[in-house]
Amino acid sequence: MTSSVASSAPASYLDAVAATDAARSYKRALLAALAVEPGHQVLDVGCGPGTDLAALADAAGATGAVFGIDQDPRMVATTQERMADRPTVAVRQADAQQLPFDTHSIDRARADRVLMHVADPAAVLGEIHRVLRPGGLLTLAEPDWDTLAIDHPDLAVSRAFTGYVAERLHRNRAIGRQLPRLAAHAGFSLRAVRNEAVVLTDFGTAETILGLRRNTERAAAAGFLTPEETDGWLEHLRTDTFFATASFITVVAQSAT
Ligand SMILES: C[S@@+](CC[C@H](N)C(=O)[O-])C[C@H]1O[C@@H](n2cnc3c(N)ncnc32)[C@H](O)[C@@H]1O
Repeated sequence: MTSSVASSAPASYLDAVAATDAARSYKRALLAALAVEPGHQVLDVGCGPGTDLAALADAAGATGAVFGIDQDPRMVATTQERMADRPTVAVRQADAQQLPFDTHSIDRARADRVLMHVADPAAVLGEIHRVLRPGGLLTLAEPDWDTLAIDHPDLAVSRAFTGYVAERLHRNRAIGRQLPRLAAHAGFSLRAVRNEAVVLTDFGTAETILGLRRNTERAAAAGFLTPEETDGWLEHLRTDTFFATASFITVVAQSAT
């Protein structure tokens, strides 16, 4: 699903999220929608620890090329190491707002939970539109943190926690709902817009994805929850029937032919 912390999340956290059923499911669907063919030049914007690069490289084949860019040098180093035995994959440090690729040089592009972190998501989409060849495909996936809902008998406490997560942990808390508009304004035509709503029914998975314990501590430290509310909140989530959900928006877009 999503990242529970800002763009400095460690590779181990991103690996754990990528291993969840929810993440595997939407990533599989978006890979199919991207329709990568042998020989394609493919760009993964904000590739993180290289989660999707091997699958893209398999699809692009020996005559294709896959480029991963990320602004975090540690992420780039990790990914370069992981992709060392993949001669068609190149990973480099770059800002998604200034892509180091020629105009119309890329056949397929993806950005997966990256726009929620960037200062100017419209600039990123403009850059992807520039580098994609006419008719090229783009897939996007972003959570809408403003829709995070966690069941708890005290709705005010639940809202205090989800308000903290949306407001303090994510630069662009409502990027999910904005994707269709921003992609259209960047010049893309929208081929598919979906809400792959995330549903979490066990505390353990929610802890992996949402970092419930550490983010409850942070919310309390920031004054969103009192110490009493904090104890009761976590105890209830841990021991009673668990339910949390959030919108997760995916878009398949095409640059004009
Ligand atoms: C939630 S991770 C997702 C990683 C990967 N796309 C995946 O699905 O596992 C977001 C990534 O975006 C990168 N990122 C954030 N802002 C960026 C920017 N302006 N330019 C390039 N990468 C950026 C972060 O360093 C991080 O690796």
